[in-house]
Amino acid sequence: MSEKNSFVADLRKEYTLNGLTEQNMCPNPIEQFDEWFKDAVQANVHEPNAMHLATVSAAGTPKGRIVLLKGLDENGFAFYTNYESQKGNDLSANSAASLTFFWPELERQVRIEGMAQKISAAQSDAYFQSRPRNSRLGAWVSAQSRPIADRSLLEKREADLEKQFENQEISRPPHWGGFCLVPNRIEFWQGRPSRLHDRILYELENNLWQLSRLQP
Ligand SMILES: Cc1cc2nc3c(=O)[nH]c(=O)nc-3n(C[C@H](O)[C@H](O)[C@H](O)COP(=O)(O)O)c2cc1C
Repeated sequence: MSEKNSFVADLRKEYTLNGLTEQNMCPNPIEQFDEWFKDAVQANVHEPNAMHLATVSAAGTPKGRIVLLKGLDENGFAFYTNYESQKGNDLSANSAASLTFFWPELERQVRIEGMAQKISAAQSDAYFQSRPRNSRLGAWVSAQSRPIADRSLLEKREADLEKQFENQEISRPPHWGGFCLVPNRIEFWQGRPSRLHDRILYELENNLWQLSRLQP
Protein backbone atom coordinates (compact mmCIF):
# COMPACT_ATOMS: atom_id res chain seq x y z
CA MET A 1 0.00 0.00 0.00
CA SER A 2 2.71 2.49 0.99
CA GLU A 3 4.71 1.59 -2.17
CA LYS A 4 1.63 2.36 -4.27
CA ASN A 5 1.18 5.64 -2.44
CA SER A 6 4.73 6.75 -3.16
CA PHE A 7 4.25 5.85 -6.85
CA VAL A 8 1.22 8.13 -6.97
CA ALA A 9 2.92 10.89 -4.99
CA ASP A 10 5.93 10.81 -7.34
CA LEU A 11 3.85 11.52 -10.45
CA ARG A 12 4.72 15.08 -11.44
CA LYS A 13 4.50 17.25 -14.52
CA GLU A 14 6.00 20.66 -15.21
CA TYR A 15 3.75 22.98 -17.26
CA THR A 16 5.59 25.06 -19.84
CA LEU A 17 3.43 25.59 -22.92
CA ASN A 18 1.84 28.99 -22.51
CA GLY A 19 0.96 31.99 -20.33
CA LEU A 20 -2.09 34.23 -19.84
CA THR A 21 -2.10 38.01 -19.79
CA GLU A 22 -5.16 40.08 -19.00
CA GLN A 23 -4.58 42.09 -22.19
CA ASN A 24 -4.85 38.99 -24.38
CA MET A 25 -8.14 37.77 -22.92
CA CYS A 26 -11.45 38.50 -24.74
CA PRO A 27 -13.78 40.89 -22.86
CA ASN A 28 -16.47 38.19 -22.97
CA PRO A 29 -15.57 34.82 -21.38
CA ILE A 30 -17.85 32.82 -23.68
CA GLU A 31 -15.86 34.17 -26.64
CA GLN A 32 -12.68 33.34 -24.76
CA PHE A 33 -14.00 29.81 -24.13
CA ASP A 34 -14.85 29.45 -27.81
CA GLU A 35 -11.23 30.32 -28.72
CA TRP A 36 -9.85 27.81 -26.23
CA PHE A 37 -12.30 25.17 -27.38
CA LYS A 38 -11.13 25.60 -30.97
CA ASP A 39 -7.52 25.32 -29.75
CA ALA A 40 -8.47 22.04 -27.99
CA VAL A 41 -10.04 20.64 -31.18
CA GLN A 42 -7.00 21.70 -33.21
CA ALA A 43 -4.65 20.09 -30.66
CA ASN A 44 -6.57 16.80 -31.05
CA VAL A 45 -7.55 16.71 -27.38
CA HIS A 46 -9.35 13.43 -26.74
CA GLU A 47 -13.08 14.29 -26.41
CA PRO A 48 -12.54 18.04 -25.99
CA ASN A 49 -16.27 18.47 -25.26
CA ALA A 50 -16.22 16.09 -22.27
CA MET A 51 -16.80 18.11 -19.11
CA HIS A 52 -17.31 17.41 -15.44
CA LEU A 53 -20.77 18.50 -14.28
CA ALA A 54 -21.20 19.10 -10.55
CA THR A 55 -24.65 19.35 -9.00
CA VAL A 56 -25.96 19.32 -5.44
CA SER A 57 -28.70 16.88 -4.44
CA ALA A 58 -31.84 17.91 -2.57
CA ALA A 59 -30.16 16.45 0.56
CA GLY A 60 -27.14 18.74 0.00
CA THR A 61 -24.74 16.03 -1.24
CA PRO A 62 -22.36 17.08 -4.04
CA LYS A 63 -22.52 14.84 -7.12
CA GLY A 64 -20.17 14.82 -10.11
CA ARG A 65 -20.07 13.11 -13.48
CA ILE A 66 -18.87 13.64 -17.05
CA VAL A 67 -21.29 14.84 -19.74
CA LEU A 68 -20.71 16.16 -23.26
CA LEU A 69 -20.98 19.80 -24.28
CA LYS A 70 -23.41 19.84 -27.21
CA GLY A 71 -24.06 23.52 -27.72
CA LEU A 72 -22.48 26.88 -26.97
CA ASP A 73 -23.97 30.30 -27.58
CA GLU A 74 -24.16 33.70 -25.90
CA ASN A 75 -26.56 32.23 -23.28
CA GLY A 76 -24.29 29.44 -22.13
CA PHE A 77 -23.30 25.79 -22.28
CA ALA A 78 -25.76 23.07 -23.35
CA PHE A 79 -25.77 19.36 -22.56
CA TYR A 80 -28.40 16.63 -22.90
CA THR A 81 -29.54 14.03 -20.45
CA ASN A 82 -32.43 12.22 -18.79
CA TYR A 83 -34.45 14.77 -16.78
CA GLU A 84 -35.34 12.01 -14.26
CA SER A 85 -31.71 10.96 -13.65
CA GLN A 86 -29.78 11.86 -10.50
CA LYS A 87 -28.47 15.01 -12.17
CA GLY A 88 -31.91 15.87 -13.55
CA ASN A 89 -33.46 15.57 -10.11
CA ASP A 90 -30.60 17.54 -8.53
CA LEU A 91 -31.07 20.38 -11.01
CA SER A 92 -34.83 20.45 -10.43
CA ALA A 93 -34.21 20.90 -6.70
CA ASN A 94 -31.25 23.27 -7.05
CA SER A 95 -30.30 24.77 -10.38
CA ALA A 96 -26.82 25.87 -9.21
CA ALA A 97 -24.20 23.80 -11.02
CA SER A 98 -20.65 23.89 -12.28
CA LEU A 99 -18.78 22.56 -15.30
CA THR A 100 -15.06 21.80 -15.48
CA PHE A 101 -13.02 21.11 -18.60
CA PHE A 102 -9.46 19.73 -18.47
CA TRP A 103 -7.43 19.75 -21.67
CA PRO A 104 -4.13 18.15 -20.63
CA GLU A 105 -2.52 18.47 -24.08
CA LEU A 106 -2.80 22.27 -23.68
CA GLU A 107 -2.19 22.33 -19.90
CA ARG A 108 -5.52 24.14 -19.54
CA GLN A 109 -8.55 23.98 -17.27
CA VAL A 110 -11.79 25.98 -17.47
CA ARG A 111 -14.24 26.18 -14.57
CA ILE A 112 -17.74 27.50 -15.12
CA GLU A 113 -20.38 28.22 -12.48
CA GLY A 114 -23.97 29.30 -12.92
CA MET A 115 -27.59 28.23 -13.06
CA ALA A 116 -28.85 25.39 -15.25
CA GLN A 117 -32.12 25.90 -17.11
CA LYS A 118 -34.02 23.40 -19.23
CA ILE A 119 -33.69 24.35 -22.88
CA SER A 120 -36.81 24.65 -25.06
CA ALA A 121 -38.62 21.50 -26.20
CA ALA A 122 -38.06 22.59 -29.81
CA GLN A 123 -34.29 22.80 -29.28
CA SER A 124 -34.23 19.41 -27.51
CA ASP A 125 -36.30 17.89 -30.34
CA ALA A 126 -33.92 19.26 -32.96
CA TYR A 127 -30.87 17.85 -31.19
CA PHE A 128 -32.60 14.52 -30.47
CA GLN A 129 -33.44 14.06 -34.14
CA SER A 130 -29.79 14.68 -35.07
CA ARG A 131 -28.69 11.66 -32.99
CA PRO A 132 -28.13 8.21 -34.50
CA ARG A 133 -31.18 5.91 -34.35
CA ASN A 134 -29.65 3.59 -31.74
CA SER A 135 -28.90 6.55 -29.40
CA ARG A 136 -32.49 7.75 -29.83
CA LEU A 137 -33.73 4.29 -28.94
CA GLY A 138 -31.37 4.20 -25.93
CA ALA A 139 -33.04 7.30 -24.51
CA TRP A 140 -36.30 5.29 -24.34
CA VAL A 141 -34.62 2.14 -23.05
CA SER A 142 -32.79 3.51 -20.02
CA ALA A 143 -34.44 4.90 -16.89
CA GLN A 144 -31.08 6.52 -16.21
CA SER A 145 -29.67 6.32 -12.67
CA ARG A 146 -32.29 3.84 -11.45
CA PRO A 147 -31.21 0.35 -10.38
CA ILE A 148 -31.86 -2.66 -12.61
CA ALA A 149 -31.50 -6.32 -11.59
CA ASP A 150 -29.74 -7.51 -14.72
CA ARG A 151 -28.29 -6.17 -17.99
CA SER A 152 -30.40 -8.69 -19.93
CA LEU A 153 -33.53 -6.75 -18.90
CA LEU A 154 -32.16 -3.66 -20.64
CA GLU A 155 -31.35 -5.66 -23.75
CA LYS A 156 -34.85 -7.14 -23.78
CA ARG A 157 -36.38 -3.69 -23.42
CA GLU A 158 -34.20 -2.48 -26.31
CA ALA A 159 -35.35 -5.37 -28.54
CA ASP A 160 -39.02 -4.77 -27.62
CA LEU A 161 -38.75 -1.05 -28.36
CA GLU A 162 -36.93 -1.73 -31.62
CA LYS A 163 -39.98 -3.75 -32.69
CA GLN A 164 -42.39 -1.11 -31.44
CA PHE A 165 -40.62 1.65 -33.43
CA GLU A 166 -40.02 -0.51 -36.53
CA ASN A 167 -40.36 1.63 -39.69
CA GLN A 168 -41.23 4.64 -37.53
CA GLU A 169 -39.46 7.81 -36.50
CA ILE A 170 -38.27 7.68 -32.88
CA SER A 171 -39.63 10.76 -31.12
CA ARG A 172 -37.94 12.37 -28.13
CA PRO A 173 -39.07 10.88 -24.81
CA PRO A 174 -40.60 13.58 -22.58
CA HIS A 175 -38.10 12.71 -19.83
CA TRP A 176 -35.09 13.45 -22.05
CA GLY A 177 -33.74 16.85 -23.10
CA GLY A 178 -31.20 19.57 -22.68
CA PHE A 179 -30.05 21.95 -20.00
CA CYS A 180 -28.20 25.21 -20.59
CA LEU A 181 -25.81 26.28 -17.86
CA VAL A 182 -26.03 30.08 -17.82
CA PRO A 183 -22.70 31.22 -16.37
CA ASN A 184 -22.01 33.89 -13.77
CA ARG A 185 -18.36 32.95 -13.14
CA ILE A 186 -15.77 31.48 -15.51
CA GLU A 187 -12.13 30.84 -14.68
CA PHE A 188 -9.38 30.10 -17.21
CA TRP A 189 -6.33 28.26 -15.88
CA GLN A 190 -3.06 27.85 -17.72
CA GLY A 191 -0.32 25.65 -16.21
CA ARG A 192 3.00 27.47 -15.67
CA PRO A 193 6.42 26.42 -14.39
CA SER A 194 7.09 26.03 -10.65
CA ARG A 195 3.35 25.70 -9.95
CA LEU A 196 2.95 29.49 -10.48
CA HIS A 197 0.01 28.95 -12.78
CA ASP A 198 -2.02 31.72 -14.43
CA ARG A 199 -5.66 32.04 -13.38
CA ILE A 200 -7.95 34.63 -14.92
CA LEU A 201 -11.45 34.91 -13.46
CA TYR A 202 -14.52 36.52 -15.03
CA GLU A 203 -17.43 37.37 -12.73
CA LEU A 204 -20.75 38.80 -13.79
CA GLU A 205 -21.54 41.99 -11.87
CA ASN A 206 -24.55 44.14 -12.84
CA ASN A 207 -24.62 42.37 -16.20
CA LEU A 208 -20.98 43.22 -16.92
CA TRP A 209 -18.10 40.76 -16.91
CA GLN A 210 -15.35 41.82 -14.48
CA LEU A 211 -11.94 40.31 -14.88
CA SER A 212 -9.41 39.57 -12.13
CA ARG A 213 -6.31 37.45 -11.58
CA LEU A 214 -6.23 34.78 -8.89
CA GLN A 215 -3.17 33.39 -7.16
CA PRO A 216 -2.38 29.85 -8.23
C1 LIG B 1 -17.11 10.67 -21.86
C2 LIG B 1 -18.49 10.58 -21.23
C3 LIG B 1 -19.53 11.31 -21.78
C4 LIG B 1 -20.81 11.25 -21.21
N1 LIG B 1 -21.80 12.04 -21.73
C5 LIG B 1 -23.02 12.05 -21.15
C6 LIG B 1 -24.02 12.97 -21.60
O1 LIG B 1 -23.81 13.81 -22.50
N2 LIG B 1 -25.23 12.91 -20.99
C7 LIG B 1 -25.50 12.03 -19.97
O2 LIG B 1 -26.62 12.03 -19.48
N3 LIG B 1 -24.55 11.19 -19.51
C8 LIG B 1 -23.31 11.17 -20.05
N4 LIG B 1 -22.34 10.34 -19.57
C9 LIG B 1 -22.67 9.44 -18.46
C10 LIG B 1 -22.61 10.22 -17.14
O3 LIG B 1 -21.26 10.41 -16.74
C11 LIG B 1 -23.37 9.53 -16.00
O4 LIG B 1 -22.90 8.22 -15.81
C12 LIG B 1 -24.88 9.47 -16.26
O5 LIG B 1 -25.36 10.64 -16.90
C13 LIG B 1 -25.65 9.28 -14.96
O6 LIG B 1 -25.36 10.34 -14.10
P1 LIG B 1 -26.31 10.73 -12.86
O7 LIG B 1 -26.70 9.42 -12.22
O8 LIG B 1 -25.46 11.57 -11.95
O9 LIG B 1 -27.48 11.48 -13.41
C14 LIG B 1 -21.05 10.40 -20.10
C15 LIG B 1 -19.98 9.68 -19.54
C16 LIG B 1 -18.72 9.77 -20.09
C17 LIG B 1 -17.59 9.02 -19.45
